[in-house]
Amino acid sequence: MIKFLDLHKINSRFNTEFKSQFNSVLTSGHYILGEQVEQFETNFANYCGTKHCIGTANGLDALTLILKAYIELGKLKPGDEVIVPANTFIATVLSVLHANLKPVLVDANEESFSISVAEVEKHINPKVKAIIAVHLYGQLADIDSLYNIAKQHKLLLIEDAAQAHGAISTSHKKAGNLSDAAAFSFYPSKNLGCLGDGGAITTNDTKLSDCIKMLHNYGSSSKYVNDIIGTNSRLDELQAAFLSIKLKQLDEDNLKRQDIAAFYLSNIKNKKIKLPFFNHTKDHVFYAFVVRVDDRKDFINYLNANEVGYLIHYPIPPHKQKALAMFNHRSFPVTEKIHDTVVSIPISPVMTDEEVQTVTQILNSY
Ligand SMILES: Cc1ncc(COP(=O)(O)O)c(C=O)c1O
Repeated sequence: MIKFLDLHKINSRFNTEFKSQFNSVLTSGHYILGEQVEQFETNFANYCGTKHCIGTANGLDALTLILKAYIELGKLKPGDEVIVPANTFIATVLSVLHANLKPVLVDANEESFSISVAEVEKHINPKVKAIIAVHLYGQLADIDSLYNIAKQHKLLLIEDAAQAHGAISTSHKKAGNLSDAAAFSFYPSKNLGCLGDGGAITTNDTKLSDCIKMLHNYGSSSKYVNDIIGTNSRLDELQAAFLSIKLKQLDEDNLKRQDIAAFYLSNIKNKKIKLPFFNHTKDHVFYAFVVRVDDRKDFINYLNANEVGYLIHYPIPPHKQKALAMFNHRSFPVTEKIHDTVVSIPISPVMTDEEVQTVTQILNSY
């Protein structure tokens, strides 16, 4: 069986360092907002090239906190509209709702799977105050075009970089440093994943960073002094310690993902399997390698029979989820077509060459 993702193998590479950091956190007696979190925030800000990084409990909170902080700072107000891709993981849409803002769903570009810039332009109106760009599957959204639209219409541009740690734009900037503020998830399966839940926000905006630092810790400016209505969404010391170790390996891991993707792209040759778009720059860190097939049921049966792991990112689009009933009547044809046909095949920094070749052969024989 070729696993879709072998998380144990990914993390066991760091066994010794993890254990040593576990011991030092244990003996420090300081488990929340201590030096490990501070150190990781510095490390990750340096890595992304931003002035600030604030750890959070998860990626959804990171997105929500950015939006709530903009409300606190008067740059957004409840009810303002925020453009989000229809083709995304539900968290992007939920963050807008959790901040009492109104999501405006916009359909995808069929080739790149990302939000369609042409469609974004059609949805700009005076109530729209922000755009969330999602770097889906590890590939940067068309961020230059979105940046220009945001500047032209004086909108906030926020990155949902939950799947794109380390992706680099053609202007040599990293995901997390391509907008006003960015949210990351460190969910275990991510390119940079911890051993539980975790997230972070990166930004160059000092006022925003100061506000989020209060918001994520009960709105407090100093211990037991609460200036605003905040929440509890902190990255914990142990996860921060693990993340600092794994961050050192991220670029190499992303290179390995890009090598596997390059191999798949030049060696999978089957008319029934549509390969993903890739422009051969570093703007894609292949969180997922997503192929498309017309008859997904049949393809999945074939993968099961041949013991190749897979996932579907994602089977039901946000606007068709029961939880988002207010969008159930809407139609986003490209997004729906993508959701009906995608299958993610194994890609990870710990796959052996043999496994990559086996997956390729099996797909070619389909
Ligand atoms: C695109 C996207 N946005 C947001 C999130 C939310 O991250 P988390 O699961 O850490 O809350 C995820 C994670 O699954 C994601 O893939």
